[in-house]
Amino acid sequence: MIQNEAVLILDFGGQYSQLIARRVRDLNVYCEIKSYKTTAQQISATGYKGIILSGGPNSVYAENAPVGDKMAFELGIPVLGICYGAQLMAYSLGGVVSSSEVREYGKTPVEFDASGTLFQNIQEESVCWMSHTDHISEVPAGFRITASSDACPVAAMENDEKRLYAMQFHPEVEHTVYGKEILRNFLYNVCGCKGDWIMSSFAATTIQNIKDTIGDKKVICALSGGVDSSVAALMVHKAVGKNLTCIFVDHGMLRKNEGDDVERVFRKQFDMNLIRVNAQERFLSKLAGVVEPEHKRKIIGEEFIRVFEEEAKKIGQVDYLCQGTIYPDVVESGAGDAAVIKSHHNVGGLPKDVGFTGLIEPLRDLFKDEVRRVGLELGIPGPLVWRQPFPGPGLAIRIMRDITPEKLEILKDADAIFREEIVDAGLDKSINQYFAVLTNIKSVGVMGDGRTYDNTIALRGVTTSDFMTADWARIPYDLLEKISNRIINEVKCVNRIVYDITSKPPATIEWE
Ligand code: XMP
Repeated sequence: MIQNEAVLILDFGGQYSQLIARRVRDLNVYCEIKSYKTTAQQISATGYKGIILSGGPNSVYAENAPVGDKMAFELGIPVLGICYGAQLMAYSLGGVVSSSEVREYGKTPVEFDASGTLFQNIQEESVCWMSHTDHISEVPAGFRITASSDACPVAAMENDEKRLYAMQFHPEVEHTVYGKEILRNFLYNVCGCKGDWIMSSFAATTIQNIKDTIGDKKVICALSGGVDSSVAALMVHKAVGKNLTCIFVDHGMLRKNEGDDVERVFRKQFDMNLIRVNAQERFLSKLAGVVEPEHKRKIIGEEFIRVFEEEAKKIGQVDYLCQGTIYPDVVESGAGDAAVIKSHHNVGGLPKDVGFTGLIEPLRDLFKDEVRRVGLELGIPGPLVWRQPFPGPGLAIRIMRDITPEKLEILKDADAIFREEIVDAGLDKSINQYFAVLTNIKSVGVMGDGRTYDNTIALRGVTTSDFMTADWARIPYDLLEKISNRIINEVKCVNRIVYDITSKPPATIEWE
């Protein structure tokens, strides 16, 4: 635990566990997500101020339902159960959970008992987000009902004496009108949190810790230009200055002008020790003729490590490796193993056994939005901090089938036009990821008086909050028309533009 005060979120496999954590942190309280298997002994040894039990896909009566350690209710630490967590609390303490005929789903009016500890300063009736089939039908001894809806006699219950609280609805979901107030009441009034999780103090403390750890030893960092590695590197730079060397492997599959932009910001603006390796030819020769997406990812991931190691060796003795790992990458989840759709090799993922004394991961405890706030605090330019996600293998997975320098150039030019127009239209903040794809489809067209047989570019734009699911962005037709005309007129060898109108699922965001 990195803070004086922290709350624990026990993950029972719900889709919203990370969202609960982000809401808690937005209220300036540090929290950690751990598997429901965490024992009461481990919990009490860490000294959490409160525990939140997440939702989950199971019924408490299911054969393999996750139950966790019942003793957690006896620790004297306040507990808030949400959805499945609420049912589990009721069931574990002697209440009754029943199955309904119909699922209660979506925005639902809920009536609150104004004397409920968590419902102070909220209206007596308001809309909450429900998503459940089972519900609590009888509360355990010592509990009282504090909220109800049409389909749910116990929408919330509490045992104030034991500081145990439960709610069937989701306070973490934005549609729950008073969700934030309810969570605040739990964190501040029940758990007694003071709210010491603030990004400026996080940055200052972390930079000091890095300084103490590294001393006058040497550290290297793989810089990709993405927000995570940029913020991580800058924190280390602020701590140890020129004892940090950043290695920027330009694999040639970056977007138009991106390599130069990264170099300019970090070398000129921040005066960092930066080595840029122009390795496009090396990567392209390894990728020649390769068509299978996972194979492309593997080649790029491995080659990246090779180039990085070669450069690191040239520097001589290096003690630490800095990485931009963020919290969602390290969360221990309660859910079972999900199917691997894509390996998501991130080219920043370096092996940890290459002779370093230690690993420096300044962002290990942060969510993406927190990383961005730290980046802005440290003076990283807005466009870089707000950069849309870009996959480690870069444009290699946006060119269907094999990659050639000519195809790369076509895609870079088309993509640059698309991005420029989205920014000019002021849509860059509302569309979470947008890019062009070279489809490997050639089709017949007519230009001037002649027949053409040229490439098809697909445009993809999505709105999403977590990149696990996504909707296609409703880009105005007039803007699509303008982009299409510009690409056809300005990019050679393209005669057709299509717009991808599939959500995720069933499609994925990237095409490969
Ligand atoms: P998909 O295509 O799986 O993408 O819906 C979800 C998010 O992940 C990014 N992505 C990757 N990121 N290495 C990465 O670092 C990869 O191999 C990779 N593949 C997909 C994608 O851009 C989107 O933001």
